[in-house]
Amino acid sequence: MRFKVTVLPGDGIGPEVAGEGIKVLERAGERFGYNFNLHYGLIGGAAIAETGSALPPETLHMCQECDVILLGAVGDPRFDDPKREVHPEDGLLGLRKGLSLFANLRPVNIFPSLIDSSTLKPEVIKDVDLIIVRELTGGLYFGQPKRRWQEEGKRKAVDTLFYSEEEIRRILKVGFEIARGRRKKLSSVDKANVLQSSRLWREMAMEVAMEYPDVELEHILVDACAMRLIRRPSEFDVIVTENMFGDIITDEASMLSSSLGMLPSASISGLPQGRTLGMYEPVHGSSPRRAGKDMANPIATILSVALMLRYSLGLKEEALAVERAVQSTLEEGYRTYDIMGEGKTKVGTKEMGNLIAQRI
Ligand code: IPM
Ligand code: MG
Repeated sequence: MRFKVTVLPGDGIGPEVAGEGIKVLERAGERFGYNFNLHYGLIGGAAIAETGSALPPETLHMCQECDVILLGAVGDPRFDDPKREVHPEDGLLGLRKGLSLFANLRPVNIFPSLIDSSTLKPEVIKDVDLIIVRELTGGLYFGQPKRRWQEEGKRKAVDTLFYSEEEIRRILKVGFEIARGRRKKLSSVDKANVLQSSRLWREMAMEVAMEYPDVELEHILVDACAMRLIRRPSEFDVIVTENMFGDIITDEASMLSSSLGMLPSASISGLPQGRTLGMYEPVHGSSPRRAGKDMANPIATILSVALMLRYSLGLKEEALAVERAVQSTLEEGYRTYDIMGEGKTKVGTKEMGNLIAQRI
């Protein structure tokens, strides 16, 4: 079988980690008898530098025509000036919106060999196995009005937290479906004590819950959720939440698994049923300071490749093989700088990719 993969290396450490992700994908292909046709496209700062746009039409077109997308990272300090019209991040947001990738899945698992690398106590994180389902195409990121202006010489700015009933229902359904396939517990995160959009969210959660009597639903306010995530994270199974809350709590949750460099992510346009168009990327950003130094941890991208195999290509066994290869590499003591510990062997980006690929 042959799959068409669009690769968007992007900025900073993006090209380096994407390269290792592809190395592992190709190795899995060799091992299990699949071919991957790779097509490379521009996005983010790299695209602005060459075309003036963060998401050139050719890139969007390539993404519409393929089976699956692997993205490195976007973000480039050269284009950070807030007064600029176009920012690298616009490329990522445009792709999410343009492909209707409304469901962002960010699983957090603990590799036993990294339990001591977390800043949290081992007894707090040892049983953590959760997944955050983040709404990705609505809320503050996209709501209108969204602008800045001046009045009597004073600067003002507005962003809008807008959600429609349909947008909320479809992401909640993804949450319930995933919960149904796991421990049947869904935590819906909102700020219903203050926000109208959250009150609608909570109402919808109760409505959708009627279709899933086998799943236990709890509502939790986002501030309390932030606290519980570091106090008793193992109590969570599936968390579903709106875009901005999800952005914040996924970075927080990444610290359970010791490093942002370990957290993969899937952005899909429907239920994760095996053949859904999806974009796969590490949760971390472009980390410009570390770019080009062969330092970055490629594991988040490699684990994103595993999610790609599972959720978009329907290759479950292959996905597991990638995850096991990561696990044994860590068990054998290999570490990038961000997860380095006493008595371990420090390796760079490429070496980590090679070690994992060899173990598939
Ligand atoms: C993420 C990132 C992005 C986001 C940025 C790069 C626009 O932080 O994927 O979590 O805010 O969604
Ligand atoms: Mg983020």
